[in-house]
Amino acid sequence: MSGLFISFEGIDGAGKSTHIDALAQAFRAQGRAVTLTREPGGTPLAERLRQMVLNDPMDAMTEALLVFAARRDHLQHVIAPALARGDVLLCDRFTDATFAYQGGGRGFDWQILSTLEQWVQGTPLAGETAEPLRLVQPDLTIWFDLAPTIAARRLAGARVPDKFESQPLAFFEKVADGYAQRQAADPGRFARIDADQTPAAVWADVDRAVRARGLLPC
Ligand code: TYD
Repeated sequence: MSGLFISFEGIDGAGKSTHIDALAQAFRAQGRAVTLTREPGGTPLAERLRQMVLNDPMDAMTEALLVFAARRDHLQHVIAPALARGDVLLCDRFTDATFAYQGGGRGFDWQILSTLEQWVQGTPLAGETAEPLRLVQPDLTIWFDLAPTIAARRLAGARVPDKFESQPLAFFEKVADGYAQRQAADPGRFARIDADQTPAAVWADVDRAVRARGLLPC
């Protein structure tokens, strides 16, 4: 895989969407092919699983299994082919969200999530040789860090909330802790962005983080 894999994370209301589009534009301006995608989702099957995960009540293990099933399909049909083509793949959420939401928010076993991560991201895909069992992970994760109280204020009245967005503040405190734990475990992969700023200031930080890593020219 020779492309560049960047994921975007943060609690609901942290405001990542506009910056994903802006970053896509910045890469395209450099002549790079960009694949924009999201999780759960990104393939017809995974989008169907997304509808279930976001709308149907279920226990945390069922939720974890569905998001990882969606991820496997997404890896097989979108992520791996895009990286093999050399694309810049921008993914709105990836496995850190599973640790944050199912692990942190819903309190599901972190160790089992690690095992699922190894299976789903470390097992060769159809058509690959059994060889490199490298775990597929983003090269860079842009983490929009925002206090849950501020995120809740931003979300209030903005739209009809889905299953997660309608959770109480205490849930998002635990999701935020989950993200912080993932960052602490692999700090080199993360760019932490202070999302409690104007959109222009947040974008300036995103742009700087990407250029500082040599992924766009300075
Ligand atoms: P989100 O990415 O915020 O999309 P939108 O802007 O359309 O609402 O919504 C996805 C939701 O799914 C979000 O609340 C987090 C949740 N989620 C999980 O619970 N586990 C996961 O593994 C992923 C990828 C997302």
